[in-house]
Amino acid sequence: MISKAEIDRLNADYAGRPPQELLRYVMERCGDRVALSSSLSIEDQTLTDMMLEINPQPRIFTLDTGRLFPETYQLIDKTNLRYGIKLEVFCPQTEALQQMVRDNGINLFYESIEKRHLCCQVRKLEPLSRAFRTLDAWVCGLRRAQSVTRSEMRLVEWDDAHGLLKVNPLIEWSEAQVWEYVRSHHVPYNQLHDKGYPSIGCEPCTRSVKPGDDIRSGRWWWEDPQHRECGLHAKH
Ligand code: ADX
Ligand code: SF4
Repeated sequence: MISKAEIDRLNADYAGRPPQELLRYVMERCGDRVALSSSLSIEDQTLTDMMLEINPQPRIFTLDTGRLFPETYQLIDKTNLRYGIKLEVFCPQTEALQQMVRDNGINLFYESIEKRHLCCQVRKLEPLSRAFRTLDAWVCGLRRAQSVTRSEMRLVEWDDAHGLLKVNPLIEWSEAQVWEYVRSHHVPYNQLHDKGYPSIGCEPCTRSVKPGDDIRSGRWWWEDPQHRECGLHAKH
């Protein structure tokens, strides 16, 4: 457990400093009870690269919803090979998944927000809660500039919804800064980024966007912008 005062102090101490310094602090403090939650985005790949500079075997997990793009699966392999690691992969529970599909169909998410949330619950949130059982802190690749829903997020937060520390080392970074890191460190990235997909989630819920469009406008594009979160980063 960490106090609110300590969280405030960490936010003040690490503001404006390189993300690696906060990562080092959290990795030393939490040991194998901290993990990066990676969707294989450019932000998460950047954090993977940074964490490996600090510790050759950091904990990194990904939620395999079963509906990811082939390019994302390829990137899991490529990342493992490049860094000599094995990303921990969490999958949905078979019974719950089968029940959901039996009751609602395979592409239920287009029908209503409730059904979309149900799918995210079964395919992402329940597996995430299993990942959390061994953790005191999780590291995420969130950036404030990504969306209206993320403008108030901080470097270090108490994640009330899940009951553990949440660390967002890249929260202040711009997209350009992330790309600069990826290119200069030759970090492997999703090939879909070169085909008009700035933000990549599940295949049926992600589409490409036109140059200059909001970077998350291709995610759950049929919903209002303020609803476009899957519950991983919800404030409760
Ligand atoms: S989402 O909530 O809309 O899907 P986004 O794709 O922007 O999130 O990713 C934000 C952060 O959430 C990522 O940097 C990562 O830390 C975490 N995240 C999102 N999707 C996954 C996933 N499938 N597996 C693990 N972590 C994820
Ligand atoms: Fe289901 Fe779409 Fe959520 Fe993926 S993003 S878990 S396919 S609703």
